[in-house]
Amino acid sequence: MWAPVLDELAPYRFDELVPTQPLYLDEWAVDWKIAMDNYLESYHVPIGHPGLNRLFTPDYEDQRGIPGIARGISWMREAPSPRWSERVYQKYVAEVTAPHLPEDERRSWRFYSCLPNLGIDIMPEQIDFFQVLPRGPGRCVIRGAAFGLPDERREMRLIRWLGNRINMQVNAEDRRLCERLQRGLRDSAYRPGPLSQIETWMLEFHDLLRARIPEVSLPQPPARFA
Ligand SMILES: [Fe+2]
Repeated sequence: MWAPVLDELAPYRFDELVPTQPLYLDEWAVDWKIAMDNYLESYHVPIGHPGLNRLFTPDYEDQRGIPGIARGISWMREAPSPRWSERVYQKYVAEVTAPHLPEDERRSWRFYSCLPNLGIDIMPEQIDFFQVLPRGPGRCVIRGAAFGLPDERREMRLIRWLGNRINMQVNAEDRRLCERLQRGLRDSAYRPGPLSQIETWMLEFHDLLRARIPEVSLPQPPARFA
């Protein structure tokens, strides 16, 4: 499945990466599908993730064309963020990662989601992966870890710390968005999506679910789940 993107991943030298943080497990009080839906579209970023929106231009490309792999690429803004941590990251990340990376890769964050439940986020200074694992109705586990090229320079440690700080905030925002959505599902006013044709990858995910789990197309839950 990943073969069509191997060339664009090559500059990051995955085979030389080492762990930069321990494996983490985080339990969310949301359905597995809701958490995964959230990772499959980028147009919630300007509203849901103010920090990312301060750092990156809104030309999030949810590109189709690679079966099973969703890809979004965000480009760093020139205008400095008003927040110090984002501003310092923005100012130095390209310089600190210059020994390892070509120029385009130093100024972009790349998000790959592989159906049905794997994500790989690629920043210039490190990458992380995560899996969304079902734990029954209304519960799922996010399991992930981060990796980087061996580099003990103080400036690289600073950039990784700042990148983690920005990402922890994004993660907390996604969790809050998903928990609100989970509450919304119980409301009698709820109507299923899709809301828009730009939810390209969500549509593909739902087609996959309908193909593999025929019960999801039933108007009512099967008796054993009712
Ligand atoms: Fe998000």
